[in-house]
Amino acid sequence: MYIEEVKPEMKLPETVRIFDTTLRDGEQTPGVALTVDEKICIARKLDSLGVDTIEAGFPAASPGEMDSVRRIADLDLDANTCGLARVLREDIDAVIDCGADYIHTFIGTSPLHRKYKLKMSPEEIIDRAVFGVEYAVEHGLRVEFSAEDATRTEFDYLVGVYRAAEDAGADMINVPDTVGVMIPRAMNRLIRGLRDEVRTPISVHCHNDFGLAVANSLAAVEAGASQVHATINGLGERAGNAALEEVVMALITRYDLPLTIKTTELVNISEFVSKITGVRMPPNKAIVGENAFAHEAGIHVHGVLEKAETYEPITPEMVGHKRRIVLGKHTGANALRSKLQEYGIDMNEDQFCTLYEQVKRLGDKGKRITDADLRAMAVTILGKA
Ligand code: KIV
Ligand code: ZN
Repeated sequence: MYIEEVKPEMKLPETVRIFDTTLRDGEQTPGVALTVDEKICIARKLDSLGVDTIEAGFPAASPGEMDSVRRIADLDLDANTCGLARVLREDIDAVIDCGADYIHTFIGTSPLHRKYKLKMSPEEIIDRAVFGVEYAVEHGLRVEFSAEDATRTEFDYLVGVYRAAEDAGADMINVPDTVGVMIPRAMNRLIRGLRDEVRTPISVHCHNDFGLAVANSLAAVEAGASQVHATINGLGERAGNAALEEVVMALITRYDLPLTIKTTELVNISEFVSKITGVRMPPNKAIVGENAFAHEAGIHVHGVLEKAETYEPITPEMVGHKRRIVLGKHTGANALRSKLQEYGIDMNEDQFCTLYEQVKRLGDKGKRITDADLRAMAVTILGKA
């Protein structure tokens, strides 16, 4: 209702492409290193999920990366296989050697990157960017160009960089919020501004340093960005990247955008990636966390059992999750009755009251009552009768 009222103010694209960077930026999560076989398994799952592009790695970084990108490109997936490259001949050659059909090439543009990292003048950076894009285009690659640290780059200079990349043949202009410094309103204004200056489709790549990566990505889409970079479970450098599962579900259900993603696979791939990387999700992680569709409070459980939408914004089935009724000190009688029914346990009213008291007493002590605990308690009470 409220969303419909603000939609006319937005410049929503017809659809949004999902560029997955779990295997590249996601693998830059401290402590995570995937084997080639693990990367291949994840790439297959991402392809079945329906992402548009898989950034499979940074071929120039190591022989292992080279091998992973080559092997993923050989799979001939429906998704584009993309390799990352600086705007350097040797990096671009490495992507070409892998047989990838898509390149994501970048150079830092902010004053900090120019002065301290690259030690190059603004003009030299533009020349380098043009060289990289032209070289990749000449070699038959589809080219996505990123101005690294775009969100801390002077707007007029940024426009100059992107226009040069566009004229050199870039197919997509990506706007990285490299250290996650944006806020949604500023991101929206930046993308609107860029859209007025460049013709090429715009993509965003948001980091989560202030917990705003998903919000900033959505703000960019509201301004007309037609591609979002994301990672499964929000993996990535430091606080990570925009979480794919959150971006996707918001785009589909809040903005009504038609995406090609098979949302019922989201929990499955989240669990798979979590297991392989060893990065566990907090239980309250949106969409895929263990508690994302769990209800404990009596009032909530009562509502959900009557009509799920009262306390669920989307169905758990939509993302391949399951609704869970959790027992604890907030449990109401309805929830307990529904659990007993689920297990086919019949009790008279006295027995039920005893069980209910026991659940509350344990809950008050902060105990988590599992389904197995509940069954054991019920059997004991029934045995005493
Ligand atoms: O965050 C970033 O700026 C990147 C670049 C490689 C585009 O990941
Ligand atoms: Zn990044």
